[in-house]
Amino acid sequence: MTARVRKAVIPAAGLGTRFLPSTKAIPKEMLPVVDKPAIQYVVEEAERAGIHDILMVTGRNKAALEDHFDRHWELEQALERKGDHMRLRRVQKSANLGNVHFIRQGEPRGLGHAVLCAKTHVGDAPFAVLLGDDLIDQRDPLLDSMIETQERYGGSVVALMEVPEDQIHLYGCAAVSSIDGADEQIVRVDSLVEKPAIGEAPSNLAIIGRYVLAPEIFEVLQHTGPGRGGEIQLTDALLEMAADPQRPGGGVTGVIFGGRRYDTGDRLDYLKAMVRLGVRHGDFGADFRAWLTSWIDSDEGRGRLVDADRAGEPEQHGG
Ligand code: UTP
Repeated sequence: MTARVRKAVIPAAGLGTRFLPSTKAIPKEMLPVVDKPAIQYVVEEAERAGIHDILMVTGRNKAALEDHFDRHWELEQALERKGDHMRLRRVQKSANLGNVHFIRQGEPRGLGHAVLCAKTHVGDAPFAVLLGDDLIDQRDPLLDSMIETQERYGGSVVALMEVPEDQIHLYGCAAVSSIDGADEQIVRVDSLVEKPAIGEAPSNLAIIGRYVLAPEIFEVLQHTGPGRGGEIQLTDALLEMAADPQRPGGGVTGVIFGGRRYDTGDRLDYLKAMVRLGVRHGDFGADFRAWLTSWIDSDEGRGRLVDADRAGEPEQHGG
């Protein structure tokens, strides 16, 4: 029997180069998705799974993140004076979410290194990792079943999602096998590879930004050298755990997720998240949906007018 997961680590110290220049002065996790920063959705997801102790791993632009989860007395008093209780509640909500702690990564040496920064805070119980730019739609809960899977099988648990074959080279990829008696979305992870070369992926199952990790991962991360892209990769440490299920904390299980997920660090996915969550918004969702539907049928929406006045510069190199 393993301990219930009580702590979550949210790495938010990456450079966010895919979203430059927006992420030059603020972390990508602070970019708004509809009307709140991406990272607030992630913290709310942890809370819904019963995790109230949250450690954020931040980088050089940490001030905005810390301020967002702190009280803002002047703003609160101004709203109170105006009697604007609805906005006051919104401002206070992010400061009242769980018990949020911060630690600095110092240098963005990779996701594995960011997780290693949480070692002292986490201690010796299994813990969750939620990437701060990866949104899982509230309608399709995932973390609860990952925690249950960890309690049942021990070791570590990764979230997997089927992606088109021509996309798998952008992700960590898992080779899996079935587990006797388990639901078909719960699988044994036999091997893992970070961003496999095109044509060399062992499957089309991509690792997405939710993990439940055995604390023994820290010992492995301590000796994991730079891997793909010169970064210390969490995938490499998990590969070592998957390869030796008998070691303490060893073995990796996958939960295959079929729900809605948005990588808000990717510009196209970010726009999709805005639309899918925007049409559901209580204040303006219905109006937005009506506008979107009529716009899609317009000349501009059908792409008949756009070529002459493109809004953004295309990227010359890579995506
Ligand atoms: P990404 O792979 O999206 O990297 O990180 P990135 O560097 O932030 O983004 P791009 O590719 O340059 O646009 C996945 C998650 O891990 C965190 C990021 O903040 C993100 O939540 N991360 C990554 C760290 O905390 N530290 C790192 O050194 C690298």
